[in-house]
Amino acid sequence: MSSRDEPKASKRGLGRREFVKLVSGTSAAVSAGVLTNADLLGAQTTTRSKTFGPGVVPMALRVNGHVRQVTLEPRVTLLDALRDSLNLTGAKKVCDRGTCGACTVIVNEKSTYSCTMLAIEAAMSGANIETIEGLAPDGEFHVLSSTFVQHDAQQCGFCTPGFVMAAKAYIDAHPNPTYQQVQRSLGGNLCRCGTYMGVRRAVVDAAMKMKGGKS
Ligand code: FES
Ligand code: FES
Repeated sequence: MSSRDEPKASKRGLGRREFVKLVSGTSAAVSAGVLTNADLLGAQTTTRSKTFGPGVVPMALRVNGHVRQVTLEPRVTLLDALRDSLNLTGAKKVCDRGTCGACTVIVNEKSTYSCTMLAIEAAMSGANIETIEGLAPDGEFHVLSSTFVQHDAQQCGFCTPGFVMAAKAYIDAHPNPTYQQVQRSLGGNLCRCGTYMGVRRAVVDAAMKMKGGKS
């Protein structure tokens, strides 16, 4: 089930309380092995307890089909890792507290607020992360992006990458959505320019064009 079917809180990598706990406690103890890339990508497990941080630690993030090496403090969010370490600036930092959806990426096929997930959490679980940049690997618009343009579904465009990724996750799981279903599914993304009508029309149209395929 897509997280878009669930209450807003469930789309987050962590609940707010768990997130704060992990941020404050990561440097104290995290159950894992030595931070090799293999460990971080889930190839090995161990019951030993090891402390990470507060200084930087090497880790690997699987982003848009590529494993990317980064060295970050455990407190760094996935959003900041993408933007500041990997130069993937499509996901935007607006509220930075899990309310606006501007930072939406897809993690393990689910729409996710990247400001509420730690980079180390994504690394240690070997999460598969998709960003808006991954929709145009050769510089060509994904059908969702081009349909947004056709329906004039953006003004300033600041919220648009988040909407596109949220829509992509939803369409992948629900190939034939109605207008009302799209409206509900995108309820976790806010647009200060008020482009909601165009966005919904674009997503319904894109779903028809994609014919259920994960293009
Ligand atoms: S910046 Fe992440 S939800 Fe607003
Ligand atoms: S297009 Fe400006 S915030 Fe959505």
